[in-house]
Amino acid sequence: MALSKAEQLRRLYDEYAGQRQGLEVVTGSGDPDSRIMLIGEAPGKQEVLEGKPFVGKAGRILDDFFACLAIKRDEVYITNAIKYRLEKPGRRSYSRVNRPAKRQEILADSFCLLEEIRIIHPLLLVTLGNVALTAISNLFFAKSAKKEILHIGETHGRLMGFRAGVSDDSRAVFSECVADPYGLSREGEELPENDTGLFPLYHPASIIYNRSLERVYREDLARLCGILPDMFRTGDPTGYWRNVTVL
Ligand code: URA
Repeated sequence: MALSKAEQLRRLYDEYAGQRQGLEVVTGSGDPDSRIMLIGEAPGKQEVLEGKPFVGKAGRILDDFFACLAIKRDEVYITNAIKYRLEKPGRRSYSRVNRPAKRQEILADSFCLLEEIRIIHPLLLVTLGNVALTAISNLFFAKSAKKEILHIGETHGRLMGFRAGVSDDSRAVFSECVADPYGLSREGEELPENDTGLFPLYHPASIIYNRSLERVYREDLARLCGILPDMFRTGDPTGYWRNVTVL
């Protein structure tokens, strides 16, 4: 009998935690049947305490996101590109503070993110910040002829369509950055029937530390809220994974 998504995720996270012993692991949470998957960077102190992603300061900024989409937090699936707290000693003795992710750490954790995407099968990935975008670029776009790596400064607030396929054993990934179905596609480009959306947003924490980004973040969010109903009306949530092509 096929395992439920919740059971597949539980097994995946058990395996992950087994490989990351000694680290403060926080795995994804939310509705595994959601069509939307939010991907952040890594859990912070509050997330470790509560065992859920985005429950601290940055998470409170996400409340606007849910309000704007008129959905509840537990109706989407929320995870992080790296699932343990990235920390270093702080200035005060015995204190620990968050630190930025290293590229190697993003790559090393991407096996788990890829599995989550395969299991949850979302119609839309919303990346929050550059770390999540780097992880997704590496998984799905790095082999694309059109773009090697996506950068937040160039892609935030744009909906990109892509075709993604993951073989059953998750060892092979195929993708093609096909077009932006909402007006940014190149002339003459054809859209495939089944495509996944990727919508990069700045990280909510970045607007705490960089006030000038707040306006940009809110404009991007408003744009996403404007196109989402359309995308879900025209999209084929059950079908986009049908045409799996494996390299
Ligand atoms: N909390 C998370 O879970 N992820 C982030 O990226 C930031 C805060």
